[in-house]
Amino acid sequence: MTASCYYVTTPIYYVNDKAHIGHVYTTTVADVLARFHRLRGVRTFFLTGTDEHAAKVVDSARERGRSPQDWADENAGAFQETFDRLGMTHDDFIRTSQERHKSRVTRYVQALMAGGDVYPGEYEGWYDAGQEEYVPESKAKEFDYKSPINGKPLVRKREKNYFFRLSAYGDQLLSWMESNPRAVLPEARRNEVLGRIREGLNDVPISRSGQEDWGIAVPGDSGQTIYVWIDALMNYLTTIDTDERREFWPCDVHLIGKDILWFHAVIWPAILMALNRRPGYEWVTTPRSVYAHSFWISEGMKMSKSLGNFIDLPKLEEYIADFGLDAVRFYLATQGPLGATDSDFAHQRFAEIYNTALANTLGNSLNRVCNMSGRYADGLLPPVDTAVADVAIGQVIGKLKSNAGERTKSGISAYEQVELHIAADAALALVRDVDSAIEQVQPFKLAKDAARLDDVKVFLAACAEALRIGSLLLWPILPGKIEAAWRRLGCGDYAKHLENRGLGQLEAWTRWGAQVGPRQLEAGDPLFPRHQEK
Ligand code: MSP
Repeated sequence: MTASCYYVTTPIYYVNDKAHIGHVYTTTVADVLARFHRLRGVRTFFLTGTDEHAAKVVDSARERGRSPQDWADENAGAFQETFDRLGMTHDDFIRTSQERHKSRVTRYVQALMAGGDVYPGEYEGWYDAGQEEYVPESKAKEFDYKSPINGKPLVRKREKNYFFRLSAYGDQLLSWMESNPRAVLPEARRNEVLGRIREGLNDVPISRSGQEDWGIAVPGDSGQTIYVWIDALMNYLTTIDTDERREFWPCDVHLIGKDILWFHAVIWPAILMALNRRPGYEWVTTPRSVYAHSFWISEGMKMSKSLGNFIDLPKLEEYIADFGLDAVRFYLATQGPLGATDSDFAHQRFAEIYNTALANTLGNSLNRVCNMSGRYADGLLPPVDTAVADVAIGQVIGKLKSNAGERTKSGISAYEQVELHIAADAALALVRDVDSAIEQVQPFKLAKDAARLDDVKVFLAACAEALRIGSLLLWPILPGKIEAAWRRLGCGDYAKHLENRGLGQLEAWTRWGAQVGPRQLEAGDPLFPRHQEK
């Protein structure tokens, strides 16, 4: 059974940064998942956006003699433009400085105050200004009172604050995680969170003073601003808190990086649990899962601007120029740090993966089948269920057909589990099945004998059918190239269904024989020209 709707989010990105691989990566994974669900016929909502109320936005705006809003407008615009150019299919782009967000955050905090889950108090601790968060004493000590993230000295800070009563939610968080094995993924991150919750939870400050002109005021206390992290987390709810969109809640997956796990796997669900107790918010339940990926490193080393190995947007654009946008999506989606270990973004590896999986496997197989069809059948192949005279060829076709069923099943389930490399592998395995079928049958030899030409045509129709099915499974990752492949395989109609975030029918379309009648194939240039090192 497929669910009736699907909601996927990315973190909202700090607006004073320029887009880099971290931002493009998570957004690409979300885009692949959104496309997969739309392809499957599930109404989907894919959200990304910018996190704008950080103190560093005020600082960097001031350095430039600009207003925070003006500076945020410029940078949020750059993020939007980048994601559009990269073909991301988000359904909305939330900016936390928008009125629609601010007014709802105010309402949520009011509701939390009314329920006693937000109360006034005082806080003193070690503050990481770059990350906009307090670091617990034990962690501060471990890192010699420097930021565990950027190494800059932590600042001792004492403020009057409003607090969120996190300490009251330990048991409920534990039972949420224990009854939902997929609540926090992958496994290593889940264990990390469980361990920390079991150590006990402290209440957390959720407001700050001294930033009255930028941010969202604490309701009833204009001297305090809602802490940027709390404001930011609420974006996932504010954006869909309208009559038309509320059905998308609970979120199916919050995709994040491992550095922001605590906020998403503990503080955010606890806030939702607290809100859920308030009248009118019964629909606000906990997310289905929080998926925290690991990090990209670059050419074997941690990325840093000073080492010059930072994969920033211009660097990604170079790869796009050399290999194409879909090849970059493919590398990110299948070689990325979705599990618990970091991944290397390395040129040589990129070129190897491109040549092996895309040029030599997918592109090559499509070309062979289209070219042979042109040569032996003027591109016109008989219906896939036409009988063959040769028993051995019949068996090869039967094997292709049963493999297609198996590969489709494992591909779909891998997408459901956010295992994008396995999903791609399943599809590529089907492409390799076509190659071995060709090696076995040797249609180029049989075609010399006019009496066997009919069998050759039926065999090629089966190859085209397997490629059609494999290509459907690859579309979420390689949308542009696959749409070109569909035109050549005589099934360009899929693209029309999927255009403008339209819905498909993956299960029906991947059935063997779903493309009925004869089909016209087209020869053409290689989909992925082989990459030669310059
Ligand atoms: N604004 C907060 C998120 C608020 S969500 C309610 C934030 N923004 S960020 O712009 O700094 O980070 C964006 C994302 O990039 C984070 O998920 C982070 O994990 C990710 N990455 C930063 N560097 C990365 C790599 N080297 N590799 C992969 N992802 C990385 O945090």
